[in-house]
Amino acid sequence: MNNREDFTLRPKSRPVFDGKVVIITGSSQGIGRELAIQLAQKGAKIVLNARNQAKLEAVQQEILLMGADVIACAGDISDQDVCERLVNTALQHYGRIDVLINNAGVGIQNPMEQLQPIVLRKVVEVNLLGSLYCTYFALPHIKRSKGSIMFIGSIAGIHGVPSSNVYAATKMALTGLAESLRLETHSSGVHIGIAYLGFTQNDPDKQHIGPDGNLSPCPQRDSSMVSPVDKVAEGVIRMIETRQHKRVFSGLGKLLFYLNRISPQLVSRILRYQLSRFEH
Ligand SMILES: NC(=O)c1ccc[n+]([C@@H]2O[C@H](COP(=O)([O-])OP(=O)(O)OC[C@H]3O[C@@H](n4cnc5c(N)ncnc54)[C@H](OP(=O)(O)O)[C@@H]3O)[C@@H](O)[C@H]2O)c1
Repeated sequence: MNNREDFTLRPKSRPVFDGKVVIITGSSQGIGRELAIQLAQKGAKIVLNARNQAKLEAVQQEILLMGADVIACAGDISDQDVCERLVNTALQHYGRIDVLINNAGVGIQNPMEQLQPIVLRKVVEVNLLGSLYCTYFALPHIKRSKGSIMFIGSIAGIHGVPSSNVYAATKMALTGLAESLRLETHSSGVHIGIAYLGFTQNDPDKQHIGPDGNLSPCPQRDSSMVSPVDKVAEGVIRMIETRQHKRVFSGLGKLLFYLNRISPQLVSRILRYQLSRFEH
């Protein structure tokens, strides 16, 4: 094995991401876009993905202007063939894959009885199946590079949140997936990480799935109650650099994580209080 090509054994003086190939799903805006820009600044070769081709090309252009390597592969990750094509496109273009960041995700903001059944399917297909398909197709190549697979979870994946029912279910499922994969790949040198994000500054174009299954704009959040998107992306990148398995972001997230072990009832009360502040 050539140690210089080994993701884990790079000399400390060499930047971790220099020349590494990173696929980021859902990278046309928000946290995914910020991850792509910061990783490109660190010398990574980026593979962008999202459904909206025009927005994806705008991010690609932005990264090209920075002088970094980037390609875009548009498509809906709830489609297995799109995920296979995404991985194959990265391989054909760059010849290797070092990091997969399963970031694309959709949220909802309605209690279950208001939802059409199609919403349940759509959220599972994007948040869970999309991550599963991308991971499935990328895993053999990431084993070869001893790279990383990251899952972007949520504090709704630590404890359920009102009006997030199916969203919370998919984010909790990512924990099961990450933990199982970590055991399965233990001897292969692959890093599997899951980031439990708290309330993060929303992209102005952020949308969620409405009760009828159509996308609708997300209300902007009070900036005093959210983490800046650049800090969140920095934290996720740091997890890959240090090969950290699990990290809970935001003070509220950390509080919920530890309290949930002691008193889930208290966590429910805190969440009800926090969400009522958001609603007002
Ligand atoms: N923002 C928060 O407060 C927060 C908190 C906790 C966790 N998270 C998680 O962080 C991740 C990113 O959130 P964000 O706030 O940055 O979201 P966002 O602004 O809504 O961006 C989502 C990205 O995913 C893409 N996408 C959506 N559905 C897709 C699909 N089926 N196939 C491919 N791409 C798809 C979107 O582009 P297209 O629409 O063009 O496909 C967009 O690029 C999500 O997994 C989310 O659950 C966010």
